[in-house]
Amino acid sequence: MNYRHHYHAGGAADVFKHALLVLQLAHLTRKSKGLLVLDSHAGAGRYDLEGPAARKTGEWRLGIGRLWAEPRPHPSLVPYLEAVGRATAGHRQGRCYVGSALLIAACLRPQDRLICAERQPQDAAELARLMAGRANVRVLASDGYAALKAHLPPPERRGLVLIDPPYETEAEAERAVKALSAAHRRFATGGYFLWYPIKARAEADRLLAQVKATGIRRVLVAEVLPFAEPRPFRLNGSGLVMVNPAHGLAETLRDLLPWLARRLAREGEGGCRVAWLVGE
Ligand SMILES: C[S@@+](CC[C@H](N)C(=O)[O-])C[C@H]1O[C@@H](n2cnc3c(N)ncnc32)[C@H](O)[C@@H]1O
Repeated sequence: MNYRHHYHAGGAADVFKHALLVLQLAHLTRKSKGLLVLDSHAGAGRYDLEGPAARKTGEWRLGIGRLWAEPRPHPSLVPYLEAVGRATAGHRQGRCYVGSALLIAACLRPQDRLICAERQPQDAAELARLMAGRANVRVLASDGYAALKAHLPPPERRGLVLIDPPYETEAEAERAVKALSAAHRRFATGGYFLWYPIKARAEADRLLAQVKATGIRRVLVAEVLPFAEPRPFRLNGSGLVMVNPAHGLAETLRDLLPWLARRLAREGEGGCRVAWLVGE
């Protein structure tokens, strides 16, 4: 297992996933009661966009780089861009990009908690360094699936779980859906975001069928495809399975995603989709 997110940080998939994450958190933090966010595959926290990995792929230039260059971003993206700005304060724009954990931390209040798990030792150490001094954040240098078992349901009885595995093996999709299902059995009122890659359509549809077969209800699916014409064996786009999404999120996304897909498109218009996989 040698996935390193440094090559992909700030790319189209990150922008899509992080923008939706911030929208959900903005809704959850409207109520004063505290909540728990559990980020089971957290990554390093912050990524150097001028380092060798980011320079090698240049993915961020086709992701966050495009939004930074946008004079009038879509209004629903403003909370995300502001959160990125807070999480990278002190660095000039274009110097670095945030991981999910730092972005989440930038959206939370003192009464909220964040638990993030990262199995790769160097990335976990870097994340722990960045989070030092934040009393409401715990970094676990261990398996994220075990963290789901250990920390759900949270005493707050409110929260959001992000499951964002690297899908390095064929078995990972099934493992992630099983983990989602088990977590949901223990904490059914929680929100869940499961990210998935879209290479072959059939593979993504298999994951969605597995989610449907869990019996979980209120499941919204959103996808953005910078490559609307599928290229075999390549990442053509990505999606999010969202369990218990914020009220109104589906409508917000129907307006936002066509705009975002156009900005992130690598050819033509780009594609997108928002649909309920399972209703109430
Ligand atoms: C796609 S990246 C995460 C990106 C991050 N969530 C973000 O949005 O910025 C996946 C991460 O999961 C880590 N990882 C892989 N298997 C893991 C496991 N079983 N438990 C925890 N972390 C794992 C990898 O080292 C990698 O950093």
